[in-house]
Amino acid sequence: MATKITFPTIQILILSIFIHSSFAAKKGGGGGGAVPVYNVQSFGAKANGKSDSTHAFLSAWAAACASVQPATIYVPPGRYLIGAAAFWGTTCKNSGITLRIDGTLVAPSDYNVLGRSGSWIKFERTDGLTILGGTLDGQGASLWACKNHGRNCPKGTQSLGVYNSNNVMVNGLTSLDPQFFHIIIDGCHNIKLLGMTISAAADSPNTDGIHVQSSSGVTIKNAQIRTGDDCISLGPGSTNVWAENIGCGPGHGISIGSLGSNLNEPGVQNVTVKSVTFTGTENGVRIKTWAKQSNGFVRGVLFQHATMNNVQNPIIIDQNYCPNGDGKCSGQSSGVKISGVTYQDIHGTSATQVAVNFDCSKKYPCSGITLQDVHLSYQNRPATSSCSNAGGSSAGLVDPRSCL
Ligand SMILES: *[C@@H]1O[C@H](CO)[C@@H](O)[C@H](O)[C@H]1NC(C)=O
Repeated sequence: MATKITFPTIQILILSIFIHSSFAAKKGGGGGGAVPVYNVQSFGAKANGKSDSTHAFLSAWAAACASVQPATIYVPPGRYLIGAAAFWGTTCKNSGITLRIDGTLVAPSDYNVLGRSGSWIKFERTDGLTILGGTLDGQGASLWACKNHGRNCPKGTQSLGVYNSNNVMVNGLTSLDPQFFHIIIDGCHNIKLLGMTISAAADSPNTDGIHVQSSSGVTIKNAQIRTGDDCISLGPGSTNVWAENIGCGPGHGISIGSLGSNLNEPGVQNVTVKSVTFTGTENGVRIKTWAKQSNGFVRGVLFQHATMNNVQNPIIIDQNYCPNGDGKCSGQSSGVKISGVTYQDIHGTSATQVAVNFDCSKKYPCSGITLQDVHLSYQNRPATSSCSNAGGSSAGLVDPRSCL
């Protein structure tokens, strides 16, 4: 049977071949969908863990950034050695860059390369950035060893920093062994961190999991955080923060603070932390301020549905933080005003007898502290609570008995 191909059919055929081949060229083997895809390997990145791929990643970013429509950068499986890399959004022509990572970004093994550079992977002034998947391997163990031996070592750098950016979503990222913090969010608005896996040794110094400051509208959901310092730390200027379904430990727990190290400092307001399991951590839910003059504040915090497994300080407010030898705070009381903090459905085991400890500022006592349905025990014995300069109320079953 003879097939009669009409003119319009040929036109469509040619058109569709043209569309397919032009997509394939841009795709370079990865990604999909109707947006241009820039594969870092087409820009010279090598997945061998040894060749420096920093320039290739920056070039792929520049191309995605120059696209007038949303664009995807694709990182195929493999290990990519990356030095200090700053991805700037200032001149981007679209606000929809997706970085899809199937591989691992590896920091230089010599900590002196990044140690004083201030950042490793950094995003500055981006809008509408999405990071999907991927692993960041900070190779921090040799710097931790240096610090733990009290030698003269560089401060180290956080693995991922997002600065002065809006509308950022990070989904399914893994962070391993950073030199310093895993992730810092600073000066940002509307940030979602979903399904993160964060891991570093229990004795790794300064390895906070997620640190937020000067940012509003930050959601952290479904994270597993095992590290040597705070799981999540909320610094000055953290507002409208929501953290939910977090596994924490080892580490120092979830902390609002340290606050009040400066005289003029933005406050922390409207924070919800719910459904967190703490395992063997130093603290559970903590608020920590320096014993120093400051006009900072903490207002409107809800800690809800937490399970404590052998946690040293399950519920703690410490307003007398003044590390040894700091003459600037000895004998002073904190200027940070803490009000409206609710602890609801917090249960489990404390590793010390004092399971609830409110050590508030003499000058500005904590007010509006609420304990509701709190049940904490100490090695199958009753635990105790301790209050100084703390006011509020309790409701429901509260054990140890409230001292508010
Ligand atoms: C408090 O923060 C949440 C997000 O965590 C937000 O949805 C809510 O609108 C905020 N409330 C106020 C009064 O700003």
